[in-house]
Amino acid sequence: MHLLINTGGGDAPGLNAVIRAVTLSAIRRGFQVTGIRRGYAGLLADYPEGLIPLTRDSVRGIAERGGTILGTVNKGSPFEYPTVLANGESALVDRSDTLVANFRKTSADGLIALGGDGSLRIAARLLEKGVPIIGVPKTIDNDLGATESSFGFDTAMSFATDAIGRLHSTAEAHSRVMVVEVMGRHAGWIALFSGIAGGANAILLPEQDFDLDAVCASIRHRYETQRPFAIVVVAEGAKPLGGAQWISKREVAKEATLGGIGAHVADEIAKRTGYETRSLVLGHLQRGGSPTAADRVLAMRYGAAAVRLAAEGAWGSMVSYAPPHMNAVPIADAVAKLRSVPPDHDALTTARDLGICLGV
Ligand code: F6P
Repeated sequence: MHLLINTGGGDAPGLNAVIRAVTLSAIRRGFQVTGIRRGYAGLLADYPEGLIPLTRDSVRGIAERGGTILGTVNKGSPFEYPTVLANGESALVDRSDTLVANFRKTSADGLIALGGDGSLRIAARLLEKGVPIIGVPKTIDNDLGATESSFGFDTAMSFATDAIGRLHSTAEAHSRVMVVEVMGRHAGWIALFSGIAGGANAILLPEQDFDLDAVCASIRHRYETQRPFAIVVVAEGAKPLGGAQWISKREVAKEATLGGIGAHVADEIAKRTGYETRSLVLGHLQRGGSPTAADRVLAMRYGAAAVRLAAEGAWGSMVSYAPPHMNAVPIADAVAKLRSVPPDHDALTTARDLGICLGV
């Protein structure tokens, strides 16, 4: 068997561990593995130079490295491929037929596609065009419905927890409100877990529009009755009651980039309470660096399971983690449902019990 593998969308710590596990378990079965560089670009614009054979040597020592040795893009859908036309103008062109033709030229039996909701949607469409695919879910936001947990989340949450922990001393020294913006577009898992672990006083999630009056009242209460400093964690996708998500950038063929809600919250708190505030955005630091041990193991379990599914011929499936098992679900089902924080989640109850303001 000959397997192709690619990584699409934003990177997540653990991608290299998946690549390593796929390569080693495939080689052990006598299969051949070829990496596609930069999402689907290696089968389109960079073809055939964008294909690299993966061997034991090429995946040696990579499990501990962040990023992806294959590279990734988050605006390279073959159905809307950014292309420079003969007249010099740029346009989004459907290059999926070329991609399918180039896939056939590789004589591969199938593709293992590592990606988030966008990349898995592309995978579902390529599947309909006859490309045999096994999906591996990737998202630091942990927001894919069909899997319990994705690799990268633990690393991002651990980094954010450390950052929040470091803010306590400076917030206390200056009697300030520190507002930390973390990633989490549609789901507030990183904000909720790092906020609880890092000792935040307020946590604002995309799942629950927040009331700035309630946030300010809880901070005032803390200043007056407990300690005169506070830490607020806000997910990038959180929004005020009646407001909209904060967009920092719009680009063609890509979801809008979120960012800026933390600065807004800090300004409003300063205006309404008179307390000194500062804000910071953790941004891509959450996606960088070495994956935690938990993410490495999870990533390698996903990779090994993907090869088992390929060996069984279970094309069209995505590996789904249902602890303690690695199962298979149809790729189409996998992208159908978002995994947001349910209102009755025990971590929310715990946060309330600890006196953490959740914005209402
Ligand atoms: O989906 C993961 C994520 O990290 C989101 O939290 C964030 O909105 C997005 O990716 C940012 O991606 P990029 O800056 O690579 O476009």
